[in-house]
This record gives sequence, C-alpha cells and structure tokens, in this order.
Amino acid sequence: MKTVSPFLELEEKPRVGVTFEGERFELPEGENLAASLLAAGVRVFRRTPVSDAPRAPFCMMGACFDCLVEIDGVVRQACMIDVVDELEIVRPGAEAAKGTDDAAK
Ligand code: FES
Repeated sequence: MKTVSPFLELEEKPRVGVTFEGERFELPEGENLAASLLAAGVRVFRRTPVSDAPRAPFCMMGACFDCLVEIDGVVRQACMIDVVDELEIVRPGAEAAKGTDDAAK
C-alpha cells in the first residue's frame, strides 16, 4: 500500500538480519541497502584514505562513491545493492587499518 512517505513503506517490509561493523540490524528485505542503513542510524559508511574523514551516501545513484562498503571482501556501492539476509558488512579497509594498528604496537 502506498503511503505519503517512502520511509513509512520501509516499516511494513519483512525484516532480515544484517551485520554492519559487528552491530546487528534488522533491515527491510529487498530495499536499498544504503537507505536502509541510513534509516537504521548508520552515519559513517567509510573513511577517506588520506584524511580519515567520515563519508556517507550522498547521491544515492552510483555516482559519488561515498557509500562504499565491504561485503564478503568485495568493496561495493551500498546504494546499488538490495538488502538480503545475513549480509556481513564492514567499512572498506577496516581490516587493513586494523592490521596496521596491530603492527604498530
Ligand atoms: S551514494 Fe553516491 S555512489 Fe552510492
């Protein structure tokens, strides 16, 4: 059923479990991943490699690359992906940065 707000339609979808940076979310199955993570409260999808500045979805149409996330070792644009059950998502380069931090200790 159509509602006034597209965000209200997200509430009526069946939910599936998704993990982002180790935190579990129940997101609407088949909806846009970037929009669903934003609606769930995720505000930092990636960090820039040089300045470590936080980035989040901006264009929502595959042009800006600010929504990059890593799923199963592959860096992808969250705004171009649908929510499916059991997605394991991390920020791109998170494991590499962790390894660098471990090596510095
Ligand atoms: S939000 Fe711009 S490429 Fe995904």
